[in-house]
Amino acid sequence: MSDAAATAKRPDILPVEPLRWVGEVDGYLRILDQTRLPSCEVWIDCVDVSVVWEAIRSLRVRGAPAIGLAAAYGVCLSLRSACGSTAGLCQIVNRAAEYLSTARPTAVNLFWALSRMRRRAVQLAEAPPEVFRQKLLEEAFAIHQEDRRMCEAIGRWGASLLPEHACVLTHCNTGALATGGIGTALGIVYTAVASKKKIHVYVDETRPLLQGARLTAWELMRWGISCTLICDSMAGALLARKKIDAVIVGADRIAARGDTANKIGTYGLAVLARHHGVPFYVAAPSSTFDLSLDSGQRIPIEERHPDEVRSPQGVLFAPADVPAWNPAFDVTPAELITAIICEKGVICPVTKERIAEVLESPMPQFAGK
Ligand code: MRU
Repeated sequence: MSDAAATAKRPDILPVEPLRWVGEVDGYLRILDQTRLPSCEVWIDCVDVSVVWEAIRSLRVRGAPAIGLAAAYGVCLSLRSACGSTAGLCQIVNRAAEYLSTARPTAVNLFWALSRMRRRAVQLAEAPPEVFRQKLLEEAFAIHQEDRRMCEAIGRWGASLLPEHACVLTHCNTGALATGGIGTALGIVYTAVASKKKIHVYVDETRPLLQGARLTAWELMRWGISCTLICDSMAGALLARKKIDAVIVGADRIAARGDTANKIGTYGLAVLARHHGVPFYVAAPSSTFDLSLDSGQRIPIEERHPDEVRSPQGVLFAPADVPAWNPAFDVTPAELITAIICEKGVICPVTKERIAEVLESPMPQFAGK
């Protein structure tokens, strides 16, 4: 297994970009089809908002921040062949945002990015049509750039919490593939490794869609970061053997009191971490907080098709007609979370008051940035 510090010696490797706008205002959105990884790197050129909707729904683009970015660019695509008055363009933006908001229900970043695009459209209601289109694309670029910076800051805050030689357990994929930057939970690992800490990552495979096995393992291997893949059911045994210094996961929506929705299986990990006295960290940008919901009980949880459970990767290994349950996310109560790491700081203890205090503070400027 390669030395974790090897990453710092590989300046040729750049974080993979899961999505990118190509061209000017009449350009298009290029998405890396994550359902094909790790065996093939296939790019999809989206020229139509319906292609973006399908890409979000079927997890070709996935991870809460990346879903928000795709949706923001999707709004720009809705204007691609539109002509006429700015009032007409505003209506198109509203319709596109309504439509895109139906792609997936749990990650609040989707709704956050769409409301931001709508607000910008309202501000531009008096602008000439060509200015309106240009400024909306600039808004999508700004959301993308801000996400990149938030990932870097999360990485800095989180890396400072890890010891020199740390074993980390993570779930799902929270890296560059899931965001506009280096990632959230995985961004912490990248930042720690870049600062010469020796980190080993245990990767939960993340049934049923295997984001850990297919995507996180792929990202870590690409960077030469020391890692071991485990089946989800092995996490308890791993923690019982006292091999883990921290569990770090991402989030799809965090309620005002800190309850956190994330990939199914996260809640079980939090219970295990508490039982074994291991810190359980959630890493997420402020765009993942939903302060309109007091508790996690009100977070809408996506239920996906039972075939994803019966036939992982299209291979049937259960009776074809056995009933199966497939919630894509679960909710971890705030009491089980040691700290939430966001771009503005480390929220600890995880309480409504502390969350509000940190979110209201400005994002700090780190030295050397
Ligand atoms: O269904 P997915 O693959 O979109 O789920 C992704 C997750 O659960 C991630 O942990 C979360 O979105 C954070 S990504 C930085």
